[in-house]
Amino acid sequence: MHISDPKLIGRLAELGVELRTGTRLSEQTSLGIGGTTDLLRITKHESIPDLLQLLDESHVSHKFLGGGSNLLVGDGDLPWVVLQLVPHEPDVVLEGNFAHVDAAADLGRTVTFCAKRDLGGMEGLIGVPGTVGGALRMNAGAYGMQIGSYVREVKLYRAATRKVETLRGHQISFEYRHTSFAPDDMMLAVTLELPSKPYNEILQGIRICNEKRRSSQPLGQKSAGCIFRNPAGASAGRLIDELALKGFSVGDARVSDRHANFFVNAGHASAKDMLALIAYVRERVQKAYGVALDNEVVVWNA
Ligand code: EPU
Repeated sequence: MHISDPKLIGRLAELGVELRTGTRLSEQTSLGIGGTTDLLRITKHESIPDLLQLLDESHVSHKFLGGGSNLLVGDGDLPWVVLQLVPHEPDVVLEGNFAHVDAAADLGRTVTFCAKRDLGGMEGLIGVPGTVGGALRMNAGAYGMQIGSYVREVKLYRAATRKVETLRGHQISFEYRHTSFAPDDMMLAVTLELPSKPYNEILQGIRICNEKRRSSQPLGQKSAGCIFRNPAGASAGRLIDELALKGFSVGDARVSDRHANFFVNAGHASAKDMLALIAYVRERVQKAYGVALDNEVVVWNA
């Protein structure tokens, strides 16, 4: 979608918004898949309600982009624009055991920054690509931990009330790869409470997780991490592997040889290829085991 309303364009500077026209989302997503649209980069987070009001008045629909690492975006000319936060500097501020973190902060850098100041707990997340806001909205986790356990406060734009609100940790539910946030809520900042731990100990934990990840996941390839949520008591990767689907491809969309729940873009895969591969694998798993796999990856295909 291309923003052409001069009234809207004329107000962007005062709202602290930079317009990048004709952005290729394949360059913004870890899968390297996605068509073209206008990208609005937001520096003044407090102007979000006004910006969204303006977009509404101009009949421009929108989506919120985090780090693009758990996302499958459709091909071609996309029917909505994309909003993305520019992180404030500094993006992490510590106060005792509390870390106040900008939603646009890089997750890995945040974990490392806190670790160096003897704050641990998030060792498992070190190799998970993306932003803190993205991790928060889906309750990212790995190796027995999840970010939701450390959340004490979240500042967000709530689409339902059209306001910036602050929620306390107990007002949010964090489940396995799922939260009570609405799909159109936009994470702005979070306060985490992290346990004190000596840096050396945290580093040890980080090394162990890194090693496990390197030995089981296709880290150097374009992927969106795990495609499906694990069904209760099972591993989607193992189920797909047992059907001998590693290496199975639709075009350049391929089931990873290393971990069968990672689908990689092995060249110039389109969203159409990737969606066809997802549908095929889901059907095979359903037929073989009677298990309906749910997407973990977020799909923007309309
Ligand atoms: N397995 C296979 N073949 C495969 C993949 C896995 O046999 O192709 C077996 C493994 O050998 C192991 C079991 O399945 O015995 C579980 O595998 P793994 O430890 O890799 O865990 P997972 O359940 O497949 C989950 C998360 C990952 C997270 C790891 C480590 C989901 C959907 N996946 O994977 O998260 O990194 O545990 O904690 O919850 C993600 O969310 O994108 C993601 C990659």
